[in-house]
Amino acid sequence: MSRITVIGGTGYAGSAIVAEAAARAHQVTALSRSLPDAPIPNVTYVEGDATDEATLSAAIEGADVVVAALAPRGPLAGTFRDVYSTIARLADAAGALLFVVGGYSSLRPAPGADRFVTDLSHIPTELHDEIRAGAALITEDLPATPATLDWVFVSPALRFGAHVPGEQLGRYRLGSDVAVQPEDGGAISAADYALGFVDLIEKGDHHRAQVNLGH
Ligand SMILES: NC(=O)c1ccc[n+]([C@@H]2O[C@H](COP(=O)([O-])OP(=O)(O)OC[C@H]3O[C@@H](n4cnc5c(N)ncnc54)[C@H](OP(=O)(O)O)[C@@H]3O)[C@@H](O)[C@H]2O)c1
Repeated sequence: MSRITVIGGTGYAGSAIVAEAAARAHQVTALSRSLPDAPIPNVTYVEGDATDEATLSAAIEGADVVVAALAPRGPLAGTFRDVYSTIARLADAAGALLFVVGGYSSLRPAPGADRFVTDLSHIPTELHDEIRAGAALITEDLPATPATLDWVFVSPALRFGAHVPGEQLGRYRLGSDVAVQPEDGGAISAADYALGFVDLIEKGDHHRAQVNLGH
């Protein structure tokens, strides 16, 4: 059993990770600004703003694993990378592992190829800042953290999200920084992403690395 704090634990990705971890009898705390309509049994919900360092610190203290599942949208658009830097620093100080819910665009189509994010010409302009902020975590911010911090950046398949819920298949494919299905293997459901995510936490066999969970 691990003590797992999920920052953004009521969101699309975060709530699925919370549910999977709680179902495996981990001790789960979920931080978000508002409480969920349908709380998951045996989960401790904490209401607070991740832009407040004291709130983050209290949520992270005592955790074995910190999961960062915020999104670089809305009010967090301008502060997302700073908030993640603070999360990383606090996780390091607490001796906790950091698992980050990442994005698809920071993956590569093939070994050694440029990451998808280097060419966003086919993506609507209004999404570029969000995609770039998320990708900067793995291209710049996480590699620059002290070596004492162990982190894993978990990119989903291209098709992932409330708008493409996918089917729960009870399986997933694990890739590295190379997408397992660059040709778009279909949507991965939140439940299957969470299955792979909590497997990664329990196995602990990736260190300061990016992985891809797809179908
Ligand atoms: N295919 C892809 O590449 C893909 C697709 C989807 C998502 N993603 C990535 O997955 C990550 C999570 O996205 P998502 O869609 O799961 O996000 P989401 O559904 O919007 O959830 C965000 C979570 O963060 C919480 N939150 C927001 N602002 C907060 C704050 N200031 N303090 C504390 N909690 C806050 C929200 O709850 P409150 O609003 O109540 O605070 C919610 O729990 C993102 O990094 C996103 O880029 C990638």
